[in-house]
Amino acid sequence: MAASIFVKMIEQNVSLKPYNTFGLNAQAKLMARVGSVPELQVVLADGNLKREERFILGGGSNILLTRDVDGLVIKNEIDGIEVIGESPEHYFVRSGAGVVWHELVMHCIANGYAGIENLSLIPGNVGAAPMQNIGAYGVELKDVFHSLEAVEMASGNVETFSSADCQFGYRESVFKRKLKGQFIISSVTLKLSKTPNVNTSYGAIEQELEAMGISSPTIKEVSQAVINIRQSKLPDPKVLGNSGSFFKNPVVPNSKFEELKAKYPNIPGYPAGAETKLAAGWLIEQCGWKGKVVGNTGSHSKQALVLVNYGNATGVEIFELSEQIIRSVYDTFGVHLEREVNVY
Ligand code: EPU
Repeated sequence: MAASIFVKMIEQNVSLKPYNTFGLNAQAKLMARVGSVPELQVVLADGNLKREERFILGGGSNILLTRDVDGLVIKNEIDGIEVIGESPEHYFVRSGAGVVWHELVMHCIANGYAGIENLSLIPGNVGAAPMQNIGAYGVELKDVFHSLEAVEMASGNVETFSSADCQFGYRESVFKRKLKGQFIISSVTLKLSKTPNVNTSYGAIEQELEAMGISSPTIKEVSQAVINIRQSKLPDPKVLGNSGSFFKNPVVPNSKFEELKAKYPNIPGYPAGAETKLAAGWLIEQCGWKGKVVGNTGSHSKQALVLVNYGNATGVEIFELSEQIIRSVYDTFGVHLEREVNVY
């Protein structure tokens, strides 16, 4: 496709409200929807567009927009799911970065590809999954990750990243750190099992399966249990704007945990390597924020870790609430909360 033809498809002055799960009304000066790697390369190489600040948008589920984008939003709509290989025990399933994550999960379950059922109903697109190594109910993306392809913005070249290259951590990857803003993920390949090895170790899943009367669950049943739990606790972004967990669970030295436990015997803590992971939701709740409404925003009544937009919030308002929460948790517990959501 010639660049000039493509550039005509660039939209101007686009409201980003439908494209971020907080439902925030920021404007994009320019927006290009790309459905393939060659289309993306055309946009990246276009001389007129090169001067513009670039903002990569996937499912918009992990972004807090505090201002307009005075540049080019590249909306990643690269589609397609296919099995690109198999071994005696695994399928290698490649998905376009623009596929809705939960649709990939449902597709894999329907076809008997096991390993991502615990990650059911996580909002966002496939391309965002490795960015922050999404995780829930005892499974992280890195557990099933094989490789990804990403386009370097400066050169337009496609590069392949192995799991080691991605440097996954808790809600972390090289794309949030050293390579921030340098690559656009175009596809992700997962290594999924032919023989399901269900992981029901997370307390809430065990309880939900018991309530469902199921003792040896299929991957579909594990997925349904996860969906039930999420729907009971986490607000649906289509109904109430939110971005899932707004903060990360803080990891502290064991000595700090012991100190806190002496003062607050009920404080939850989970081993994380040689340290302890605290529950940010618990810390925030103890500070009195859970269910509190502050103007057009607030902390959700069923999960304090989730900040919500009651309709007309601005990104700045939500950011300011998050600042207040960070300050109050620090003043009470001496623990610094870090945002999980990317602030723009
Ligand atoms: N808790 C409270 N009050 C709250 C929320 C939680 O006391 O308002 C306590 C719970 O009682 C429990 C502990 O905190 O003892 C952990 O709660 P939960 O199982 O709900 O999980 P979480 O640590 O709050 C994390 C992820 C979620 C993921 C769940 C399930 C992070 C930042 N969040 O939440 O991920 O779904 O575990 O695995 O790691 C997301 O990243 O957007 C997200 C929703």
